[in-house]
Amino acid sequence: MYAIETKELTKKFGSLTAVDNISFQVKHGSIFAFLGPNGAGKSTTIKMLTTLLSPTSGMVTLNGFDVSKDSNEVRRNFGIVFQDPSLDDDLTAYENMELHAVLYKVPQNEIKERIEQLLNFVELWDRRDNLVKTFSGGMKRRLEIARGLLHHPKILFLDEPTIGLDPQTRNHIWSYLIKMNKEEGTTIFVTTHYMEEADKVADQIAIIDHGKIVAQGTSAELKEKTKTQSLEEAFIALTGHEIRHEEAAKGLHMRHWRSAARRGS
Ligand SMILES: Nc1ncnc2c1ncn2[C@@H]1O[C@H](COP(=O)(O)OP(=O)(O)OP(=O)(O)O)[C@@H](O)[C@H]1O
Ligand SMILES: [Mg+2]
Repeated sequence: MYAIETKELTKKFGSLTAVDNISFQVKHGSIFAFLGPNGAGKSTTIKMLTTLLSPTSGMVTLNGFDVSKDSNEVRRNFGIVFQDPSLDDDLTAYENMELHAVLYKVPQNEIKERIEQLLNFVELWDRRDNLVKTFSGGMKRRLEIARGLLHHPKILFLDEPTIGLDPQTRNHIWSYLIKMNKEEGTTIFVTTHYMEEADKVADQIAIIDHGKIVAQGTSAELKEKTKTQSLEEAFIALTGHEIRHEEAAKGLHMRHWRSAARRGS
């Protein structure tokens, strides 16, 4: 049994196929990097893996549980750090943790200890009583990671956990995640645009482009397949050079067209 398994997973938004028939497996206790250009379908995939979006077709299981049928069981199995910040700025770090602990039904007698342990883990215990709105981007990201780990999830999903952070903070974040992975066997599913991070930490990599998986394997296998020296070169060899704005441009064009039609021009 795999930690995560998808079969022919597809998501359509109207005429756009954001995720197109993807199948992959993630082994227990591994670090899986899901890479792809902007708009490739990474966040949409994570949303389907974590019950936030229902697939148009195909199947997902987490630890053997079918995401569409056993969603309550599935939710106990994972933690998630979203691409967009999702902390409450008007609460303190501690209160954000506490709120999440209650939502995830962490037993009352364990809450205090677990929050202290995790805030120490991400080096924010001293700042526990400060409002989140006074935190820097890196502190907020570390708090979100601590929050995602509160209920001892077996799988942690992280959608671009290190985006916009300095190299020091990125290294810190990765050292927490690797520690979690080694000591507690937490399976990690991560998206990132930093190829050198994926190269360093991932056991397995899948590259998605225009909704389709274009290659899977270890970093060494992807380099070998593309006859390149670095993961960044392999990524570009597999996904091409052009900037991904055609989808957005299409949407804009449609809006102009519709408003022109409404004006009767
Ligand atoms: N709710 C939605 N309704 C319509 N289209 C959507 C919706 N969510 C995503 N899309 C479209 O689906 C495609 C995939 O988006 P997604 O957010 O999964 O990309 P991504 O790989 O996470 O990109 P990024 O690296 O920029 O975060 C894009 O073309 C996007 O515009
Ligand atoms: Mg995304």
